Amino acid sequence: MTVKPVTVEPLAQEPGSGINFGATVSNADLENLNDETFALIRDALFKHQVVVIKNQTTLSPRAQFELTNRFDPLATNYGHGKTLDSKRSVLHPDLKTIPHQPQVQVIGNGFVASYEGLENITLRHPHHRTFHKTSIPAEDDLAFTRFYRWHIDAALYALPPPIVTALLAVKVPAGRRQIVRYDDGSGEELDVPLGTTAFSNGETTYTLLSEEDKAFVRSTRVEYAPHPYVWMSGAKSRSDGLGMVTEGLEIPLVDLPPIEEDKIQILPMVWKNPVTGGLALQVHPSAVRKLHLKDGTVIEDLAVVREIVHRLQRPGIAPRFVYAHDWEEGDLVLFHNRGVLHTVVGAFAEDEVRLFRQCNVAATELPVGSGEEIAV
Ligand SMILES: [Fe+2]
Repeated sequence: MTVKPVTVEPLAQEPGSGINFGATVSNADLENLNDETFALIRDALFKHQVVVIKNQTTLSPRAQFELTNRFDPLATNYGHGKTLDSKRSVLHPDLKTIPHQPQVQVIGNGFVASYEGLENITLRHPHHRTFHKTSIPAEDDLAFTRFYRWHIDAALYALPPPIVTALLAVKVPAGRRQIVRYDDGSGEELDVPLGTTAFSNGETTYTLLSEEDKAFVRSTRVEYAPHPYVWMSGAKSRSDGLGMVTEGLEIPLVDLPPIEEDKIQILPMVWKNPVTGGLALQVHPSAVRKLHLKDGTVIEDLAVVREIVHRLQRPGIAPRFVYAHDWEEGDLVLFHNRGVLHTVVGAFAEDEVRLFRQCNVAATELPVGSGEEIAV
């Protein structure tokens, strides 16, 4: 039998689309991954930001972890470490850990009798109604939806953000479509497949900025809240899923788990692509707490911080720039977690069973910025 060569093909986009990222990798044997194939996948990931590998229905959790781990071989802990254990974290209800491969989490919707050592589990696709300040009226809820929460997969406290996330579609309910409403006065909408994962390219978001804003983001650092997913759990999201509404509802710092000051992360606002050198505006908009400017000013007013970040990031999630992946069973999607934002989308009916496996590992190094930002 001849072995077909591994190929990398950019995703085809509609004419006029602003989506300039994404590629398909074909003929890669992930269960027995050799160095040459991994080098191709790694290069494709950093050049294209999102890599789709089809027909991976039989991929083992071990091979999924090993592929993810190869991007940062000394990194071995799940991207959120043990922080998910906190019952107050907004992430807590959405993830179930595979017992024999704890860096791999099961997510989805509906009842699953048995899967990879997990028995009788009920998965719940997060619904924007539980996280947003306002929600789609119940009568429109199956036809219309929202972006749930634009984010980077990262603890943003103690552990460096993972480089890559590997997401495998094990079971995908039969397709219908939904329309995402931004509900922010723009009138913008986006037609998407049910249960899509939506991606926005941080490098595009940077490119869309004015020269003045580019200089600002290159030289500014973002301070994240300690225990950010507990901290934000009292607050509510904007209707576009891109950050929180400021109403003073964050959990007070004294009520968080004990805070170790040296674990608080103050990261560059733009992160440099290790292969192309491209700069991506990479801010987790729900977890941001302060901005550290080049001149030493620290912006601490949360409402002001959030308005600045939202103004800078919002152009990058306009409909023409969002890639909404149309999942098929067996799709393994790798995304450059330091170059894109992503979000869960959509609302399932209770009997629509969806089963996905997610893997990422906390990196060994913090992301590299432009070099112009203030030292910390
Ligand atoms: Fe995620």
